[in-house]
Amino acid sequence: MVKQSSEALYAERFPKSRALFDHACGILPRGVTHDGWFMLPFPIYFNRAQGSHKWDVDGYEYVDYFGGHGALILGHAHPSLVEAINRQSLIGTHFGGCHELQLEWADLIKELVPSAERVEFTNSGTEANMLAMRLARAFTGRDKIVRFRGHFAGFADHVMVGFAPPWNVPTSSGLLSFDIENTVVIPINDEDALEKALSKRDVAMVMVEAAGAFSGVTGISSSFYQTMRDITKEYDTLLHFDEIVTGFRFSPGGVQAEKRIKPDLTSLGKILTGGMPGAGAIVGRTDVMEMLLFKDDTWNRYKRVSHTGTFNGNPLCASAGIATLKILRSGDPQKRASDMAQMLREQLQDAIVDRGISGCVYGDSSTFHIYLSDCELRDECDRSVCLNEDKERSLPLGRLLAINTTLNGVHFTSRGYDGFVSAVHTESDIDKTIHAFSKSFDTLIKEGILTK
Ligand SMILES: Cc1ncc(COP(=O)(O)O)c(C=O)c1O
Repeated sequence: MVKQSSEALYAERFPKSRALFDHACGILPRGVTHDGWFMLPFPIYFNRAQGSHKWDVDGYEYVDYFGGHGALILGHAHPSLVEAINRQSLIGTHFGGCHELQLEWADLIKELVPSAERVEFTNSGTEANMLAMRLARAFTGRDKIVRFRGHFAGFADHVMVGFAPPWNVPTSSGLLSFDIENTVVIPINDEDALEKALSKRDVAMVMVEAAGAFSGVTGISSSFYQTMRDITKEYDTLLHFDEIVTGFRFSPGGVQAEKRIKPDLTSLGKILTGGMPGAGAIVGRTDVMEMLLFKDDTWNRYKRVSHTGTFNGNPLCASAGIATLKILRSGDPQKRASDMAQMLREQLQDAIVDRGISGCVYGDSSTFHIYLSDCELRDECDRSVCLNEDKERSLPLGRLLAINTTLNGVHFTSRGYDGFVSAVHTESDIDKTIHAFSKSFDTLIKEGILTK
């Protein structure tokens, strides 16, 4: 009897998810509500999550490494978060005005994040980055923004180049050429390229994903952090860290606290509200953030940076954020998540080596990244920070890996290579995960998709 391919097995295993996706395709333009959730033949529909696990509509259980796109370092439905949201929902989700929780939340952020002299709340990471660019342009009087290849920064028009090759071609249509003509994209870890890009003194801000592209798929060398700080200072350009994923995860104060580099502006999101929708803030230097100040009529009308947003600093997000940051302040949950991630990375690497497949599992803090091919830098690498900018991760292979791990009870990114470990993943979760990946690798070898 011919054995079914894993793809055919997936198509059969989840009839309720399939039916819901069919329905979705008739109402949601691409069947999903985030580009990153699109998956053929259909994505899985979930209906419950708790701790490190989630369940789908067909009744299957998963160990979850998507973790709310990195927001859920304390796992799903953490009791303190649930209590904070419930409590606040009974007494007001929007006062149409100021409330004390905004201050408690901002004070906590200031205590934890070294660059946070002032805090401005937004409704998402994308909005935080949009406001960062506006503040930097207003403060410096310059138009250009420098970005690094592969770094993601949300979906604002000005950052729709540089995220995927070819680097200067936008990753979306519908932009004005004008939107991106002031966005310059350069390679990471390249001092000469950075110096050249800033040398005309016309760059307002250098934007960097603080742990490198996609939280470290391609990382940043330790020395380049200081290089970025020194060169931006030399040319009076602002340095911006996008810590939307890394903030409160890599350490209570994010990558900047770990690396002891103080950017001028920092975008925060995700963990900021413990996973409550509406997570975003831009924080930074007082003089830059004071572009938002109200002063006299002339300043207000002609110089000031304007910012509105119905849900900025709303009580529900504030309550959830305060509960989360109070727990994360000690650094203990981050340490536990990192230790579990280290265990996962090592055992996954063993599973790859045992099967004679080319590849590597790497990552810093509580992340893991999988690369299934040869690497020229293999002998110079400690599998923490990957400096191979040229590696290519096959999308079809990633999809098949995701299909197979899903069949075996593990869910992570639909591109199949990256995950976030939380503080509530257990050793038993890691065992299940290694088993699921081992079975997935074996199937992909049998199907001739992965070769030894
Ligand atoms: C590094 C980075 N920047 C910005 C964003 C955009 O944040 P949001 O999805 O909250 O708009 C994301 C989201 O995944 C991100 O990972």
